[in-house]
Amino acid sequence: MTILEVQDLKTYYSTLMGDVKAVDDVRLRMDKGEALGLVGESGCGKTTLALAIMRLLPWNGRIAGGKIMLNDIDIVGLDDKTFDKEYRWKKMSYVFQGAMNALNPVFKVGAQIAEAITIHEDVENPEAMERARELFRLVGIDPERTTSFPHELSGGMKQRAMIAMALACNPDFIIADEPTTALDVIVQAQTLEVMRELQKKLGLTTMIITHDLSVVAQTCSTCAIMYAGNLVEYADINTIFSEPAHPYTKALIGAFPSIKEDRRELVSIAGVPPNLLHPPTGCRFNPRCPNRMDICSKEKPDYLELEDGHNAACHLLTKEG
Ligand SMILES: Nc1ncnc2c1ncn2[C@@H]1O[C@H](COP(=O)(O)OP(=O)(O)O)[C@@H](O)[C@H]1O
Ligand SMILES: [Mg+2]
Repeated sequence: MTILEVQDLKTYYSTLMGDVKAVDDVRLRMDKGEALGLVGESGCGKTTLALAIMRLLPWNGRIAGGKIMLNDIDIVGLDDKTFDKEYRWKKMSYVFQGAMNALNPVFKVGAQIAEAITIHEDVENPEAMERARELFRLVGIDPERTTSFPHELSGGMKQRAMIAMALACNPDFIIADEPTTALDVIVQAQTLEVMRELQKKLGLTTMIITHDLSVVAQTCSTCAIMYAGNLVEYADINTIFSEPAHPYTKALIGAFPSIKEDRRELVSIAGVPPNLLHPPTGCRFNPRCPNRMDICSKEKPDYLELEDGHNAACHLLTKEG
């Protein structure tokens, strides 16, 4: 069953220099229970896509076209009141990039979660506190720690507390934006384990945003690769690693250590993603692409379905022979 369908979404930021085209014609579908990894280098529009879905764009951001269907309802067209009351935090929820540093230092963490619950739901404080304890249990923190202040928790615990907070109103779809980026490797692994368990226990549909393919390999069933405001490839996780179709995906995998081939040299991708005020014409990856052809700077490649559940946008895929 489809839970989320993003159709030709454009999300732009207006600036004094013009529009930053942070998300440009993105098409994406997620099934219930899917664990999708949204991957791309920094500045490719991942957070913008998440903020658009949650309708939390900053003042200069706007949805300039397209639809975001959640359970067959276009949430772009919903009025703010309905969206606030019925959708955000309740049907879908978001763990902000860097969220663990956003806990209020002067309040106990349990009280902060309880407050989030009482604001959005018609429950009294003692019940909300009990729910906060339950949520802590769910993310693998001793419920006694609800009475701790943020500085008394480790980084990993703070991140899990933020995940607990995102689950406060029982959403069935959750987006976690770079949930492990600030954590060391061991704590990263614990946090990902918690995400995996939540997917299983609650049947949650999750989108995990990361610039790190190894995170996706550990937690996701499918993967969408984003480059310079466009989705360039989508497939299940095995296909992404074994038969990547887009040169950008291949480059990301090249920059990712493989356990199969020992001692392979890590190839990082030369250059950086473009400024999205003036993205390159044609395929936006063309200036960095090792397989560039004439057509690549002239025409934007179609986002083709290569086989069921595997899409990619690259001129190599339509070239004869
Ligand atoms: N409020 C803003 N105003 C103008 N440009 C922005 C704003 N927020 C983000 N951007 C730009 O939008 C692009 C995408 O950013 P972002 O969605 O944060 O990417 P990612 O999460 O993949 O790192 C970047 O070029 C970034 O500089
Ligand atoms: Mg981001």
